[in-house]
Amino acid sequence: MDNKSRSGDAGCSIGAGSGEGTMRRVEELRERTVWKSDPHTQVKHLVYRHYLQCWMAKILQTFREATIVDGFAGPGVYTDGPPGSSIVVAKTFLEHTAHRRFGRLNLICLEERPDRVEELQRQFAKLPHSPQLNISIQPPGTFAEQQSRLSALAHRGRVETPVLWLIDPFDLKSAPFSLISQCLTGPRDEVLFTLFTNELHRFCQREGFDKTMSAYFGGDHWQVATTERRAGARKEAFAAAYQQGLKDQGLFTGSFGIKISNQSARYHLILATHNEAGLKCWAPVTWKLDSYSGQGASADTADTLSLFDEALVVDRLDVALRAHAGTEQRWETLSSQAARLNHMDKHLRQVLDNLAAQGLAIRVDPVKARTAWPEGCTVRFYAPEDVADEAS
Ligand SMILES: C[S@@+](CC[C@H](N)C(=O)[O-])C[C@H]1O[C@@H](n2cnc3c(N)ncnc32)[C@H](O)[C@@H]1O
Repeated sequence: MDNKSRSGDAGCSIGAGSGEGTMRRVEELRERTVWKSDPHTQVKHLVYRHYLQCWMAKILQTFREATIVDGFAGPGVYTDGPPGSSIVVAKTFLEHTAHRRFGRLNLICLEERPDRVEELQRQFAKLPHSPQLNISIQPPGTFAEQQSRLSALAHRGRVETPVLWLIDPFDLKSAPFSLISQCLTGPRDEVLFTLFTNELHRFCQREGFDKTMSAYFGGDHWQVATTERRAGARKEAFAAAYQQGLKDQGLFTGSFGIKISNQSARYHLILATHNEAGLKCWAPVTWKLDSYSGQGASADTADTLSLFDEALVVDRLDVALRAHAGTEQRWETLSSQAARLNHMDKHLRQVLDNLAAQGLAIRVDPVKARTAWPEGCTVRFYAPEDVADEAS
C-alpha cells in the first residue's frame, strides 16, 4: 500500500469533512489520550446500548456464561464526559433490569496505546463491583496480533461459548475481512463492526487503493458499488457489498448507517451473526433509532424518533408478502422473512392487517384466536386479481 492510501484511511472514523477542523481532530486523536465525543459517537453508542440490552436479556438468560470482546476499546471516556464503549457495555449490564437473573458476563478490553489502557483502568475503577461481571483489561496490544489469544480467553475452553466482538478501529487497515472472519469461527460468535463507508466512497478509486479495498472486503465484490455516482447511494452499495460477502459465508447480517441530519452516512455499523435470532435483536434497535426505514439514524434526531413511531415505512415487507400470492405460509416463515428484511413482528402484523383489509391475506389457522396474527398461525395469500369483483 502506498503513502497516499495510508493518508486516505487515516481519516476514517474521524474524517468529518476536510480542512482545518478535520486536521485539528486528527491531531487531537493522535496526540491526546482522551478526545472529545461527537454526535456520531453518541448514536453509535445508542445502537450498542439498545443491541446489548436485547443481546444480554436473550444470551445471558440462556447460557451460564458469555463474553464480549471490545477489541478497539479506547480510553473509556471522552473529554466532554460521555463514557467510552467498554464502560457503555459494563453499565448496560449493571443497569439491566434483569441482570440478577443473568449468567456471568466476561468483558475483555484491548487497546493499543498504554496511556489509553491506563485511563480505561481508571474509568473501570469508578464502577461498582459485581460478581457476575468479570472485567479483564488486557495489556496494550494490537488486535490483529492478539485476536487468537483473545479468542481462546473469550471462549474459555468451549467453542460454543457465545462471544460478541466489538470491532471499532480508526482505520481500514486494522480490520481486514480475514480478521473479521477469524472472529466468527465459533458457532455462537457475533461481530458488531464499524464499516468506513465514507472513506470507501472517497478513496475507492484512488490509484493503488484497490488492494486495501479487496483486503477490507475479502474479495473484489466492492467494485459493484463504484458504478453508483451519488455519495449516499454509493455508501449504501458498499455496505450492501460487505454484507453480501458475509452472506456468502452463510452468515446473517444487519446494517445501520450513522449520519448527521440529511447528509449521507459517515459510517455503517454491520452486525454479523450465525443465528437468525441475532437479527431479532438487531431489527428493533434500528427501528427504534430510525422509525422511517430502520436503516440509518440521523445524529440530530436520534432522541426524538419515538415521535415517528406511527409513520413506519414497511414497503419492502409489503412487496415480499405479496409475492406469496397463491400459497399458504406459516407464521415462523413469515417472521423469519421479516427479520431478514430488518423488520420486527409488529411490522409484519401491520402489513398483514393492511393486506387483510384488501382481501390479500387471510388467517386460515387457527380459526379462533384472540388476536389477528398469533404466533404459530397459518396465513393464505391471494393476488389482487383473485379479489377483483368479476361483475365490475
Ligand atoms: C475509534 S477508537 C475506539 C472508540 C471506542 N470503541 C468507543 O466507542 O468509545 C479506536 C481505538 O483503537 C485504538 N487502536 C488503534 N489501532 C488499534 C489496533 N490495531 N489494536 C487495538 N487498538 C487499536 C486507538 O488507540 C483508539 O483508542
